[in-house]
This record gives sequence, structure tokens and C-alpha cells, in this order.
Amino acid sequence: MFQHLDRYAGDPILSLNDEFQKDPRRDKVNLSIGIYFDNEGRIPVLQCVRDAEAAMLAESGPKPYLPIAGAPAMRAAVQQLLFGADHPALKAGRVVTLQTVGSSGGLKVGADFIKRWLPQSGMWMSDPSWDNHRAMFEGAGVAVHTYPYYDAASGGVRFDALCEAIDRLPPRSVLLLHACCHNPTGVDLGRDQWERLVPLLRRRELLPYLDLAYQGYGDGIAEDAFAVRLLADSGLSFFVANSFSKSMSVYGERAGALSVVCADAAEADRVYGQLQATVRRNYSSPAIHAAGIVTRVLGEAKLRAAWEADVAAMRQRIQAMRHSLHATLSAKKPGRDFGYFLTQRGMFSYTGLSAAQVDRLREQYGVYLIRSGRICVAGLNTGNVERTANAMAAVID
Ligand code: LMR
Repeated sequence: MFQHLDRYAGDPILSLNDEFQKDPRRDKVNLSIGIYFDNEGRIPVLQCVRDAEAAMLAESGPKPYLPIAGAPAMRAAVQQLLFGADHPALKAGRVVTLQTVGSSGGLKVGADFIKRWLPQSGMWMSDPSWDNHRAMFEGAGVAVHTYPYYDAASGGVRFDALCEAIDRLPPRSVLLLHACCHNPTGVDLGRDQWERLVPLLRRRELLPYLDLAYQGYGDGIAEDAFAVRLLADSGLSFFVANSFSKSMSVYGERAGALSVVCADAAEADRVYGQLQATVRRNYSSPAIHAAGIVTRVLGEAKLRAAWEADVAAMRQRIQAMRHSLHATLSAKKPGRDFGYFLTQRGMFSYTGLSAAQVDRLREQYGVYLIRSGRICVAGLNTGNVERTANAMAAVID
């Protein structure tokens, strides 16, 4: 029955993380997967999440199915978080939000919806992007293309080339954009660039699809929602998938959401209905525990304040690691400019290391990063950053 199946080569990120777990070397360093580790190398359990869970356990209520769209209280809290309290688009009923199975679940529901209701639309993603963007949209039957993004020479964005490419797209093309903390490069669009993009999106009648998986890891929780709020202000219709995996350190809970901003409330109502139909056909409804955590942490003042402080601390620790890596590498390789470690935002940095250098780092030094040269800076800590920088310097010619 299954003889004809191709072998699954494994996911480049998740398989590498598995390989890391099996490596017996004690001084190994995991810079592969986009997970925030604390200075002791552990996935933190945030106190606000513990408190939320303790309250949920104390209530020990029944666990019915959630509605297809998820918990209403979580959906409302997500809207406030993304768009800001009382955003006119929310007041006008133009925004629909569904709790989803992580933001990946949201991305896929959105992709299925696009295939069903905008069947001619292709999706354009940045070159490079998170590998799974392509896989998810192609899996939904949407043709996937790329637009120019990362400039290896300058370490910045090829913004003019990006605009030129977008200017040639057919109307209703989907433009996948990282709202902050670009994965894998760490190179974000500046605010002025987002502002310049809006008239182009409008003129070409494009459909932006924002991926917001790292909110709070760039400049701040509200600051990292800049693109979401700018597009909402502009009156454009767009999608935004957001995640709490990283910001609340609840990866396995699959806590995410998908929001769609529509032209008016009547249109939003139709979109909402068809998104529910899409979810029902996929996984029926999302997880009740994830909803409980997110709703409490966002909605209860004490937990919210603790969470905001935790996110700030995680962001600042990553920044400190960026500075340490930069300092050691600059000292070791005085002729080279490692300034990009300081300007890139969020968990990831594109190091410019080749696949062969990445292999050497793993084999010889036990430092794991994906073969594109992306590192997860949050895997560094005061105990391993120097050693990692030395290993990197050793493989750089
Ligand atoms: C990553 O890019 O490493 C993370 O988003 C985790 C994943 O699922 O790939």
C-alpha cells in the first residue's frame, strides 16, 4: 500500500534540533531552532503563565470543545494586543480574529481560505523566508514566488528591488511580510519603508499577509505591532497570523491567532463565516488550555504587567548576547565588520556563514545552526557565547 512513498527528508529546522538533542557532547550549543532559552540554557516558564495555570487548575472546570473560532475572550484580547485598544477598525467591526493552533495553524487556515476564495492569487514571500511559509502555501495549492529582500552585500533590505518587484504583481496577489524580527535574517523593514509600501500595496491592489511570530522581541510589544497598526490605519484589507509561542514561552500549547481586516463589517462577517468553515474542515476547533493562558495573561492586570516585564527581559538578554558576540568576533577578526549582529532584530541573525562552515561548526565545535547560516541568538548565554564566537572565528577564513 505504501511502497511508493518518498522518504521524508525531515524538516531542516526541527530535524537539526533533534540531532542536537542526541549529540552527547556536554559543551554543545543549540542555535538551530527559534526558541528562547534563558541564561541557563532552559526554556523559561514565565511566572505569569504559572499563575494563570494555577488559577485554571483551581477552577478545575469542564473542558468542552471551544467554538470553531476559539475562545471569545482570547480573540478579543488578541485584537487589543495587535491593533491597540479601541482601534477604529475594531470599533467598525472590520476585524475578525480566530484563535488558531499556533500561528502556523493560522497561516495554514489563511492559505486554505485564499486558495478557496481567491483561487487566482499567488503568494510572494521574501527571499529568503521561513522555509515553512512556502511549504504551507504550496500545501494549500497556492503558487509561491519570492520577492527580493535580503541584501547580502550591505546586510540590509533591497528595498528598491522589492518595490519594483511588487509593482509588477497581478492584482490580489498575496504578499507575505514579516511584521517584525524577520525570520531568518533579523533584517526588518524600517518604519519609513513600511510607510512607503502602503501606497504601493493599495495601487497594485495587493493582499498583505503579516506573520507576527516574535512580537516583543524586536523593539517592544506595541512597537512590534507597528506594521499591523499602520496597515489597519490605511484601510487596506490584510491578514495577520500571530503567535504566543515565543512571547509567552508556551511553544507546545500551540497558542496563536489569525486576524483578517476587511473593508467593512458586512464583509468581515462573510470572511468570519468562511474562516470558520475552513477551520472545521481542518482541525475543528482550537485548544482550550492555550486560550485560558493567553486570556488571563493578557487580561489580568497583574499578570499582564509581569508578562510585559518578562518579554522586556528576554529582549534585553538577546541584545546583550548580540553585543557579546559582536565584541568577541570583532576582536578576533579585526578586519571584518560584524555590525550586523547589532542592527538585526529579534531572535535571529544571518551570519553569512556558508553551509560548509556551518557543517564545520557542528562537527568540530558542537555549535548547531541551520545551513542557511541563520543563528538563533537566544541560544547564546554568558556561559557559551565566548566559546561560540571563538568557534565562529575559527571557521571564518
Ligand atoms: C524557527 O524558525 O526556528 C521557529 O519558527 C520554529 C519552527 O517551527 O521552525
